[in-house]
Amino acid sequence: MVSYKDLGFVNTRKMFEVAMKNGFAVPAYNFNNMEQLQAIVTACLESQSPVILQVSKGAREYADQTLLRYMGQGAIEMMKRMAKEKGLGEIPIALHLDHGGDFEICKSCIDSGFSSVMIDGSHLSYEENVELTRKVVEYAHKYDVTVEGELGVLAGVEDDVKAEHHTYTKPEEVEDFLKKTGVDSLAIAIGTSHGAYKFKPGQKPEIRLDILHEIEKRIPGFPIVLHGSSSVPQDAVETINKYGGKLKDSIGIPEDQLREAARSAVCKINIDSDGRLVMTAKIREIFATKPEEFDPRKYLGPAREALKQMYIAKNKNVLGSAGQAPAIMALLK
Ligand code: G3H
Ligand code: 13P
Ligand code: ZN
Repeated sequence: MVSYKDLGFVNTRKMFEVAMKNGFAVPAYNFNNMEQLQAIVTACLESQSPVILQVSKGAREYADQTLLRYMGQGAIEMMKRMAKEKGLGEIPIALHLDHGGDFEICKSCIDSGFSSVMIDGSHLSYEENVELTRKVVEYAHKYDVTVEGELGVLAGVEDDVKAEHHTYTKPEEVEDFLKKTGVDSLAIAIGTSHGAYKFKPGQKPEIRLDILHEIEKRIPGFPIVLHGSSSVPQDAVETINKYGGKLKDSIGIPEDQLREAARSAVCKINIDSDGRLVMTAKIREIFATKPEEFDPRKYLGPAREALKQMYIAKNKNVLGSAGQAPAIMALLK
């Protein structure tokens, strides 16, 4: 058993407390490799934002859960050193299991030093979801690890599970779910979806902020999470297609709607696909314009820099988390 506290991570409790009070959302960015991790951590340090590093099932299969945990730990040390060098304050970093599918995987992450886990029982019946989530909360809270549950089903692909249509969260269920499970935050389905194809051309890109507000009214002050919140930057899609890619037309979640959600009870916003698009666009551009290059650092380096700039812009303009790290660090002392 390794405690996340000994590794330098923090759970999400104080992050969400400040996010709720100051009207922003903590970024939850997925990582699978070193370049993504470096981009996330340096962007958040430079913009003084708290950050939740997310590890999905796909990431664990690709890069190995143990290695990712050590990389996260290494990122803490890197952040501390860089903060000193740049004369910046340290930032709070959580290591979070994204879409934990069963009790065993949540336990294994908690035991190996994750500070936060998601138990995703959204595809189960309500009763089964309650039971599974409650069991994870009971275990996690023994170690002060925070737990995210989910009610409602997002359309799109979530690891191996594919849902054709949204099943919006039912506001009348949330109070009972929180009471029975004891979760620390709740992911809801209000029209966001995973992946790069969220709305079809011609479709109005709109999330159901009315459902969010209805939920907020029933559980005031409780941290809400939005998955599937990439905005699908059109310049990245165009660059990918210009240099040989074949992405279909797609529209993501408008950034102004995410900003509005972040000002309300939404305290955590998950973004993965936008990073994939920005990295791929830069790598394709370099392969096409500098065909003589074969050193991975010459294309992964610029891709990492583009990714970092994207995260800084998200923190400043969309989530509103830039500049909020000191308020959280003060509470953690
Ligand atoms: O929930 C979806 C995340 O973007 C993770 O995706 O399972 O392909 O790593 P992944
Ligand atoms: P996107 O696919 O919209 O980036 O969503 C990521 C996510 O929800 C990870 O859990
Ligand atoms: Zn998700």
